[in-house]
Order: sequence, then structure tokens, then C-alpha cells
Amino acid sequence: MDRIRIVGGNQLNGEIHISGAKNAALPLMIASLLTEEPLVLVNVPRLADVKQLERILENHGVDIAVHGRRRGDTEMGGQRITFTASDIVDTTAPYELVSTMRASFWVIGPLLAREGHAKVSLPGGCAIGTRPVDFYLDGLRQLGAEIEIDAGYVLARAPGGRLKGASVRFPKVSVGATHVVMMAATLAEGTTTIENAALEPEVTNLAECLVAMGAKISGIGTGRLVIEGVEKLDGAIHEVVPDRIETGTYAFAAAMTGGEVFLRNARPELLQSALDVLVRTGVDVTTEEGGLRIKRNGNGIMPVDVETDPFPGFPTDLQAQFMALMARSSGVSAIKETIFENRFMHVAELARFGANIHVDGQTATVTGVPELKGAQVMATDLRASVSLVIAGLAARGETVVNRIYHLDRGFERLENKLSRCGAEIERIAG
Ligand code: EPZ
Repeated sequence: MDRIRIVGGNQLNGEIHISGAKNAALPLMIASLLTEEPLVLVNVPRLADVKQLERILENHGVDIAVHGRRRGDTEMGGQRITFTASDIVDTTAPYELVSTMRASFWVIGPLLAREGHAKVSLPGGCAIGTRPVDFYLDGLRQLGAEIEIDAGYVLARAPGGRLKGASVRFPKVSVGATHVVMMAATLAEGTTTIENAALEPEVTNLAECLVAMGAKISGIGTGRLVIEGVEKLDGAIHEVVPDRIETGTYAFAAAMTGGEVFLRNARPELLQSALDVLVRTGVDVTTEEGGLRIKRNGNGIMPVDVETDPFPGFPTDLQAQFMALMARSSGVSAIKETIFENRFMHVAELARFGANIHVDGQTATVTGVPELKGAQVMATDLRASVSLVIAGLAARGETVVNRIYHLDRGFERLENKLSRCGAEIERIAG
């Protein structure tokens, strides 16, 4: 299995191109199941999760065409891919395909809405908590679906072949459940309201794509979505929003190592809460045309307390990376995780660098140390893995991050982007 080797201590200086967001690309790809016409997605990142979802969609009968280069394209630009689901040949999403990626469960919404039935394996994904699917199933039941669980599969059926608009209120904000119920409601008969909908930019990106496909959705960007069902949706061309988690990750990396990095394509409004926190740690954050500039010269890293929250709060997907930064702060910070109950798996690995972190329930108390030392480490989920890379960039000596397939799921050309800015980082095959 590939590993990443880092020799820490170099500042990051230069420019990093921010890719399209994984967590926007995945639901957008799934939305192609809602129409028999081509859905063209622009700025799709090159990631293992995108490849895996392509396999799942192909199994349902979706034709996928990756476009070649266009004049003016740069090497760092995203992919342009056309997804055409003219005929859905199979409404089963099998365990072998779904088990490695939770988002693939989301096909249940479009399949049920368009075909009237679906059989989808219960999901797998990152080991960050139990992550049930009750909100999804309750939401789909509200839309009239009959649902059974059998041998690890969810069997869903819309009586009469079509879902019916209804009022759905989620007990807690859920990104995935909002994606699924919103997609399902676009083809339901009548009007659906979703209360306590997720506000995450990836949900807005999907809603805007659905509207471009002919869906009738109002309240986009608010916690109350109103969806008037239509008989059919059309094709569209739609752009994947820049990745706010990748942006935050590189911003924290630059803060950690010192130096000055321009994050091209970054959109500050997608991660304002994280940038506000970064400023409080003593980093200069400037919005410029075409991106965001991050600069820390010489001064130390101030400790800041953080609590994760749904958007627009501090994202749980940046919690591990921020903890790596706080491990080098000049004081004590408290990091509270409120979204997932088991998302501190990186703590034990950060400790291998000499970080001083104490976990009590949902709160980690991080006492900054003057120096981290390189180590052999291994991560259990995507964001945890990249927090170890951040620690390694600042640690003295050599770090080897093992089991990096998680990184390939969500960070496009990570070592390439960092080494161009002066990091000593390489992939070791095998
Ligand atoms: C999405 O996961 C993201 N994944 C996650 O990113 C992200 O951490 C999470 O949203 C929160 O922002 C993708 O977009 C592919 P949720 P999702 O439903 O939709 C509970 C990454 O690293 N819940 O918003 O699965 C759940 O257990 C990943 O890219 C239920 O109880 O998250 C959690 O506590 C990791 N029942 C909370 O809601 C349900 O039916 C929020 O989860 C659904 C969710």
C-alpha cells in the first residue's frame, strides 16, 4: 500500500489550486439518475471517491464520458464529465460497490423517484461514528415510500410508482438526508417542504443544479426548502463549487508551517467561520481577486477554542486539521466535536508526533508544544489522514503516513500541490 513520506520544517510559499468539492461532486453525479438527458458537470475533481461512484452509476446504466482538454484549460483544472442515464437498467446498488463510500447510499432518492423502486445496501464509509440512515428513511416514508430492511439492504417502493409531496422535518441537520429528500421530491407528485434542511454550500450547489435541470425549488440556501414536483427533469451543464474543506486544509497547513500561500479559486464565503478562527490564531487572511491569501510570518500560533457546527459554523471536516495546528499553539485550546460522536481517532496518532491532547467526551483539550517530532503514523479516515500530513509538514525530521488510500479519496494531487510550495513530500509506492 502506498505511503507518504514527509521531511518537515519547510515553509509553504506559492500557489495552490483549489479543486472542485468532493462533497458537491458526489451528489451532483447522483442527480444524473433523475433524468434521461445528459448532465454535464464541470470542475469535477480527480478522486478515488469520484471513480468509485462512476462504477456505481455505470451499474445502474449511466453512460459516462470524460471530455478531453479544451483550449485554455490548465493542468490543474477539473474534469468535464457527461453523465447520461437514458435507461436505468438496474435499481439495485450492491454491497460490494456501496460499502466503501457512504454517499453512494444517496442513489436511493433518485432511483425511487424516477423508477418507483430501489434496493440499496446500507452504507459504509469513514469510521467516525455510527452514522445511521433513519432521517433518510423517515423522510422517504413521508413521501409515501414503503421501506423494508432485509439482509443489509434497504428495499424501497413508491406505491403507484410515484412519490407524493409531503412535509418533512429533520430532527437534526443532515447533509445527506437533505440531498436525498430534495432529489426525491423533485419528481414527486405535489409539493414537499423540508424543514431544518442543511445549509451547507454543497446542498446549495445541488439545489441550483436541480433547478437548472427544471426542478422547482425555493428557499435555496435557507433551512426551509419548498419543492414543487415536476413530471420529468432535463439535462443541464453545471459547475462543481470549489472545495471549502480542501481550502481550509491548505490554509491551516500554511498557518502551521509559516510562509505565504495563495489559494486559487478558493471562495472565502464558503468557510468564513474557519477563516475567522484562523485570523484569531494570528494568521493574515486576505481575499483577493481569484482566491485567498494566507500568510504567517514569524509570529507564533495563538490558541483558539472551537466547536464544530453545521454550516455556517466551523465544519467538522476541518476539526482534525485544526487540532494539528493547535498542537503547536502557544497555549491551551478546547476543541468540541458536536456533529459526530467518534471523530477523535486522529488524537492517538497526533500524540505520536509529541502532541499533548486530552479527550474528555466530546471535547479535546490541546496544550500546544514548542516542537513536533516526525513519526510513523496511520489514519482511519480522510480528514484525520490529512491532519497527520499537516503535523508532518511542521514536525522535525521524517514522517511516514501509512494507509493513504483515504487521502486519495478526497484530496486531488496532494503531494504535488504541497511540494510545488516547497514542502518535502513524496509518495512511496508499494
Ligand atoms: C456529510 O456526511 C459529508 N459527506 C461529511 O464529510 C461531513 O462530515 C458531514 O456531511 C457533516 O458536514 C459527504 O458530503 C459525502 P450528516 P453526511 O448526515 O451527510 C446524524 C468527509 O470527510 N444522522 O450531515 O453523512 C449523523 O450521524 C465526510 O468528506 C443521523 O442520526 O453527514 C451525524 O451525527 C465525512 N441519522 C449528523 O446527523 C441520519 O439518518 C450529521 O450527519 C443521518 C444523519
